[in-house]
Amino acid sequence: MANEISSNSETVPSRGQWASHLGFILAAAGSAIGLGNIWKFPYITGEYGGGAFVLVYLICVVIVGLPLMIAEIMIGRRAQQNPVGAFQELHHKNSPWQLTGWLGVASGFLILSFYSVVAGWAIAYIFKSIVGFSGSPEQIQNQFTELVVSPFDSVLWHSVFMMLCIAIVIGGVQRGIERWSKILMPALFVILIGLMFYGLFFTHGGSQALEFLFKPDFSKLSAEAALSALGHAFFTLSLGMGAMITYGSYMKKSDNIFKNAVMVSFLDTLIALMAGTAIFSLVFHYGMEPGQSVGLIFKTLPVLFKETGPGISVPFFILLSFAALTSGISLLEVVVSYFIDIRGWSRAKATFLLGGAIYLFGLLSAISSITLPFRGKDQGIFDILDFVTTNYMLPVGGLLTCLFTAWVFKRKAKIDEFGSGDTLYRVFDIIIKVVTPIAVIIVLLHGLELLPFMDYGK
Ligand code: PHE
Repeated sequence: MANEISSNSETVPSRGQWASHLGFILAAAGSAIGLGNIWKFPYITGEYGGGAFVLVYLICVVIVGLPLMIAEIMIGRRAQQNPVGAFQELHHKNSPWQLTGWLGVASGFLILSFYSVVAGWAIAYIFKSIVGFSGSPEQIQNQFTELVVSPFDSVLWHSVFMMLCIAIVIGGVQRGIERWSKILMPALFVILIGLMFYGLFFTHGGSQALEFLFKPDFSKLSAEAALSALGHAFFTLSLGMGAMITYGSYMKKSDNIFKNAVMVSFLDTLIALMAGTAIFSLVFHYGMEPGQSVGLIFKTLPVLFKETGPGISVPFFILLSFAALTSGISLLEVVVSYFIDIRGWSRAKATFLLGGAIYLFGLLSAISSITLPFRGKDQGIFDILDFVTTNYMLPVGGLLTCLFTAWVFKRKAKIDEFGSGDTLYRVFDIIIKVVTPIAVIIVLLHGLELLPFMDYGK
């Protein structure tokens, strides 16, 4: 049933709450900072030519990502519910807006199923790094192909990652998610600072990396790059699928939502830029090209790690695995919280059954030889799910959340939740009513290949 408040306490809801102010920030930053920051951001920045792309991405984070994050946290904390229950609570029981929550739960399920496979590769590479990379560049790069095509290896590491997610989420909000975020996030930060310093001061690629990331060359900025920057802002901030609604629902009334959202967006961006600096310093030091596409982390870097040795590669893949883990638990928590709140399941039952179901479904992505015809060619389940969730489901979820916040969510409640001054609220209100929806509609139309000024090769 909706919103069970324990009878013996008026202030602590039985469904869980962060123990400290830092708890929310670390858990939410943990959700946001993931493969998106350390794997995807550097390779798309490399592909789209650096600085100008980074600048557009930063603008997107501020005018689209941040407002939407504020909106999601406000919805969650006001309703004290999982994403489905939140829209029911803030509108009415049979409200069609609950579809937004449903879409979020479905997105969480689908994203985790393939996210876990990539996260599994990251864990596998910790062990490969300990052994060390040897042989010719081709041989080192082939290791990755072998890992991906071997059903046994991919399934093994996917299993390990899902087990870790289940083990943490089963511990609950404070003793599972918060506790582990408090350990993993600072560790991640320390490792990344170390790697960045190494890149900046112990390689010859540092200044070139900074120039590549921060000196915009607008001649390289295509419409395609700008749209990818916008789409990526969504994925990297964990928006459009209720993760921030869920984490917001565990937030204390006394916490300031605006400041927390600024902090989480800032940390997410900072980590992406630091990871970019560390990675490109190495890439330039060894005279490689930055545009290495998807293979940047798992194919190009290992070739360079052969030179640096395990002192750099082991921490790097630990970093990647930690980042993926704190994001994976947030994806699982969205799904689990629905079954706890609405279906009244115990946390243990919900986590085991849903975690198990996601694991089984994820096998389809782990076994890369399973393909389906999609958009005119045979594609792996992994690619199809990645495409559908990132290009369709998250933007639709984000658009609905934005429209709900702008036009349905009661004004008085919004002001109350927002927390920071009048003027700031008014700016937020205008952005969420005008700027964010327009930006999200553009991302969506681009995902559907329907933007009039783009050439989709048809
Ligand atoms: N933000 C995560 C990342 O950058 C991915 C994610 C998306 C997590 C949506 C939760 C929800 O890797």
